[in-house]
Amino acid sequence: MTETPAPATPPAPKPPAPKGPLKSAQQVEVDESKVWNLWFTRREFLTLAAWGAFLAGLGGSLMALLRYFIPNVTYDPPSVFKIGKPEEYMAGVVDERWKKKHRVWVIRDTPSQGGGLFVIFARCTHLGCTPNWLEGQNKFKCPCHGSGFRRAGINFEGPAPRPLERCKVVLAEDGQVLVDVNNRFKNPKDWTKPEAYLKV
Ligand code: FES
Repeated sequence: MTETPAPATPPAPKPPAPKGPLKSAQQVEVDESKVWNLWFTRREFLTLAAWGAFLAGLGGSLMALLRYFIPNVTYDPPSVFKIGKPEEYMAGVVDERWKKKHRVWVIRDTPSQGGGLFVIFARCTHLGCTPNWLEGQNKFKCPCHGSGFRRAGINFEGPAPRPLERCKVVLAEDGQVLVDVNNRFKNPKDWTKPEAYLKV
């Protein structure tokens, strides 16, 4: 008895053949650049650049106009100010309460020192740094180049060429001490003047 041969498996269907010739990778890149060129031509780029420059110039002009109409405002502390009554200051002490705000020290002498009150401008006479009061050493010391000043403001060490300056002080009608930091006495010969040394 002869065996019947098994039916042959039908061949897998072939993928459809591409229509037309295959493109290389280079050809695809060339085609993409063509698409880009379609959307963004050189002429459009130049037009956009011109608009950008125009708008930047317009913005700059507007800012300049605004600066012209809005004045510069500074918040410097006033040069003339009251510091309270003389009796609020302890005799023999270098008072630093106004150093940060008004850049001055207030010193009230003991009766044996003269009993008056004077105000020293806290700016080094070398290059303008702000010295520190060193209570333990009884002197002002500049942190920049080492100038030292006695309690009265006289320079005695370092490069400072002259003493610290004293500010004008008068007694206001309400009994408070009025200080004018723009009106200063540089020469120690002037420190005995009534407006440099307030008798209290
Ligand atoms: Fe004070 Fe130079 S600024 S010593």
